[in-house]
Amino acid sequence: MKVMVIGGGGREHAVIRKLRENPEITELYALPGNGGMAEDATCVPIGAKDIPGITAFAKEKRIDYAVVTPDDPLVLGCVDALEAAGVPCFGPRAKAAIIEGSKVFAKNLMKKYGIPTAAYETFDRLEDALRYLETAPVPTVIKADGLALGKGVIIAQTREEAVTAVTEMMQGRKFGASGERVVIEEYLEGPEVSVLSFTDGKTLVPMVSSMDHKRALDGDRGLNTGGMGTIAPNPYYTPEIAERCMREIFLPTIAAMNAEGRTFQGCLYFGLMLTKNGPKVIEYNCRFGDPETQVVLPLLESDLFTVMRAVTEGRLAETEVRFSDRHACCVILASEGYPGSYEKGFPISIPAEVRNSVYVAGAKLIPSESESGAADTLVTSGGRVLGCVATADSLENAIRDAYAVADRVSFSNAYCRRDIGRRALEAGA
Ligand code: AMP
Ligand code: GLY
Repeated sequence: MKVMVIGGGGREHAVIRKLRENPEITELYALPGNGGMAEDATCVPIGAKDIPGITAFAKEKRIDYAVVTPDDPLVLGCVDALEAAGVPCFGPRAKAAIIEGSKVFAKNLMKKYGIPTAAYETFDRLEDALRYLETAPVPTVIKADGLALGKGVIIAQTREEAVTAVTEMMQGRKFGASGERVVIEEYLEGPEVSVLSFTDGKTLVPMVSSMDHKRALDGDRGLNTGGMGTIAPNPYYTPEIAERCMREIFLPTIAAMNAEGRTFQGCLYFGLMLTKNGPKVIEYNCRFGDPETQVVLPLLESDLFTVMRAVTEGRLAETEVRFSDRHACCVILASEGYPGSYEKGFPISIPAEVRNSVYVAGAKLIPSESESGAADTLVTSGGRVLGCVATADSLENAIRDAYAVADRVSFSNAYCRRDIGRRALEAGA
């Protein structure tokens, strides 16, 4: 079978590696992929948002199945377009992807169906938002309505910060149209847990839980990033909490989406905060998390392609989805300076013996100029360059092994946090 994966980051590399375990897949394409995954898939230079280009490629190659991974193409209707062209897909249609595409939609859905989340108000006029802030408690949380590369959330410690954030979003258009509407919500406290799930709209199967590390620096200091590392499972997510989340959050969410005529099929990601008043939804994502996927999929023992097709065909209830009881850790090697400005173009060295433990995100291949058949050079091309992943029988060993991989990989301005998983270990994994 010919399969294509839309996207080009470390998450997509993890999906591709897992798909390759299925011998039925004879051709595997990544659109656009990146130079670091060229040994695992044929990379095709078609951008993840180029929906006409993606659809034309699928028709030309007679693609049998597509996995649409990033938020933008999902929200823009990539699955709808591919399905119309006769290509079955893993991923929600645009109608359902709105659960991530609009925070106002997500918040209103939770309010309407009684799904626990932070209390909130939504605003589409700056004056109204500013008036509300005059009496709102601080800290307070300001969120741009639409997609903002994970940067559209501001935790304002003071009223002045809140006023600046709202003004920048709504008047300064810091996030373009995404900030035309904002959500202002209650500040919650507690450990955060990411739970990815497979759902065909009828059955929902949670994957192993994970913990992201969003801040750039050790000790959870510095700027928010796309994620500097992950561990799985998340020790805060006990079986009792999992059961409560299933009852109060997961099943009510798929039922709510069905009731709205927006059946969700694909990977539904629950960003949860375990508050003293119970688990609450911080955010929904309509896709696999990055870098959560890099620790969750290595623990999946069932065949990913089989599970994905069962989701597409509404057969998830009768399909086994089994995870190992091992632990996983992913340490991101980033370009020094990320998420601010950084230099790129540095050659990356990944020794062959750790190649299978590395998921490449921000790298490209520079073709060799010699005619002697010398290998192409992989160089850095992004902020988060690659993830170093290990699984082991304990969290402690998974962390040790992931750092051992990271220490074997090198490029000039590599930076990583040194404390991925430390908080989880202290929580008593
Ligand atoms: P999001 O992009 O929605 O995942 O938000 C980014 C981060 O902001 C989350 O991972 C949380 O750490 C934090 N955050 C979002 N909403 C809240 C909230 N209501 N209270 C406290 N922290 C929040
Ligand atoms: N790691 C968080 C996300 O994928 O949104």
